[in-house]
Amino acid sequence: MEPLLKVEELNVIYGHGRQSLHAVKDVSLDISPSEILGLVGESGCGKSSLGKAIIRLTDPTSGKILFKGNDVSTLQGKALKTYRQEVQMVFQDPYGSLNPRIKVGNAIVDVLTVHRIGQSRTERMEMVIDLFESVGMQADWAYRYPHQFSGGQRQRICIARALSLEPDLLVADEPVSALDVSIQAEILDLLEDLRATRKLAFLFVSHDLAVVRNLCDRVAVMYNGEIVEAGPVADVIDNPQHEYTRKLLAAVPSF
Ligand SMILES: Nc1ncnc2c1ncn2[C@@H]1O[C@H](COP(=O)(O)OP(=O)(O)OP(=O)(O)O)[C@@H](O)[C@H]1O
Ligand SMILES: [Mg+2]
Repeated sequence: MEPLLKVEELNVIYGHGRQSLHAVKDVSLDISPSEILGLVGESGCGKSSLGKAIIRLTDPTSGKILFKGNDVSTLQGKALKTYRQEVQMVFQDPYGSLNPRIKVGNAIVDVLTVHRIGQSRTERMEMVIDLFESVGMQADWAYRYPHQFSGGQRQRICIARALSLEPDLLVADEPVSALDVSIQAEILDLLEDLRATRKLAFLFVSHDLAVVRNLCDRVAVMYNGEIVEAGPVADVIDNPQHEYTRKLLAAVPSF
């Protein structure tokens, strides 16, 4: 199958000269439609930098990002805006990514309005309610403020907002790390469900190898900006080839 996303020798360097930091080094990877690719590695290894470069929140320094066969690594202006509808990101901290002064449903209505989706405010609110129901939230909760929700509910709201533009790829950056284990499982079930019902593909950033093992099809292991190993989750986790992967696994008692 033609990959949805193909990243070729991507580099992200922050700053210039002596102060510069090479966060992503010659990374190549691909993701097929409705595939979940896990991205693991220790804090600071460059996972978020790679995720942000892929959705063009960060400008890559060099390399290619092919999305549906088109290079999006240097898009600007209107073309970039269109691309940013097709890929969305969900972050670790669901509270920090919601505006505390705006009712959660209105926040998503605003996203639809900016992108000229729907004919009227009423129609947009109906779309929001459908989205809410598809992520397991009650319709009338759309009229509440972020502080009136639990962490897991807030993450559902962030997922609903990410889905509002009907993306094909979602970069989920540690989306459950801040949640209790039981709530984590519910959100992971939701992601699995969205993959099936919406044919959504994911780059799932995580430091939790047990979660990656359960959820992802393939996993890429990142170390110091580079992908040192990648493959089907069972292969990489049961038979790690790289020394760093073995170290990561050794740190998890259950493996
Ligand atoms: N905007 C930025 N400007 C300069 N340096 C940055 C910037 N963002 C990240 N870095 C640096 O790039 C490196 C990679 O950071 P990144 O956030 O991508 O790591 P990460 O793997 O996501 O870590 P974590 O697991 O802690 O989230 C780190 O050394 C970080 O300090
Ligand atoms: Mg990060």
